[in-house]
Amino acid sequence: MNIILMGLPGAGKGTQAEQIVDTYQVPHISTGDMFRAAMKNETPLGVKAKSYMDKGELVPDEVTNGIVKERLQEADTQKGFLLDGFPRTIAQAEALESILKDLGKKIDAVINIHVDKNILMDRLTGRIICRSCGATYHKLFNPPKVADTCDRCGGHDFYQREDDKPETVENRININLEQTKPLLDFYEARNVLNTVNGEQDIKLVFKDVQTILDK
Ligand code: AP5
Ligand code: ZN
Repeated sequence: MNIILMGLPGAGKGTQAEQIVDTYQVPHISTGDMFRAAMKNETPLGVKAKSYMDKGELVPDEVTNGIVKERLQEADTQKGFLLDGFPRTIAQAEALESILKDLGKKIDAVINIHVDKNILMDRLTGRIICRSCGATYHKLFNPPKVADTCDRCGGHDFYQREDDKPETVENRININLEQTKPLLDFYEARNVLNTVNGEQDIKLVFKDVQTILDK
């Protein structure tokens, strides 16, 4: 199954992606994660991406399209994939269409996680991530079951993302808001768009996601 997960920053893409990947056994392709890994390793891609991400801006389309194209050519995406945070612009959506055409593939479902923009700030500024396994939590809305202990790996070291500072978050939300409507129209026109209510409890959002993917 070839899936795209869409939603504003903090809508819950990463949180739902963890469960989709576990349940449907598809590789998780998150452009944000790929850029953060490149930044950590200080590769040329990472240095370039950092200059945009630190300001909450989008990394240029040609850079982003290039890394996705490479990733989709890898063997583990043969039976399906979950794209998280890509495409984010019409130019990216068009590039994806052409990449998939060359590979003889198509998108089966786009899942748009809808959340009102007013609640995103609290979600992002309260987000914490396990340093050992990358699992995402929220200090108030979704804390680990045992305080300061990752449910998944037992790790005790949590961090906050550099771009989750309030001033950067605001910029990220505004930039993404501008891009979202045309993208939703793009996929609506292709009859693959599904919208779920991302303001419900995490488990209920996933139930709605499953209903779509099990169709
Ligand atoms: P990226 O890493 O993709 O970040 P984002 O889109 O800003 O989204 P987030 O990862 O912040 O949020 P999320 O929707 O995954 O929410 P989460 O599940 O963590 O991109 C980062 C940057 O990389 C971009 O700004 C850009 O610079 C660059 N980039 C990436 N892709 C690009 C592209 N295609 N083109 C150009 N540049 C690109 O949840 C958030 C919090 O809420 C967590 O604490 C979680 O526990 C909590 N939460 C989740 N669901 C719920 C719920 N239902 N109820 C209550 N709390 C919840
Ligand atoms: Zn962990």
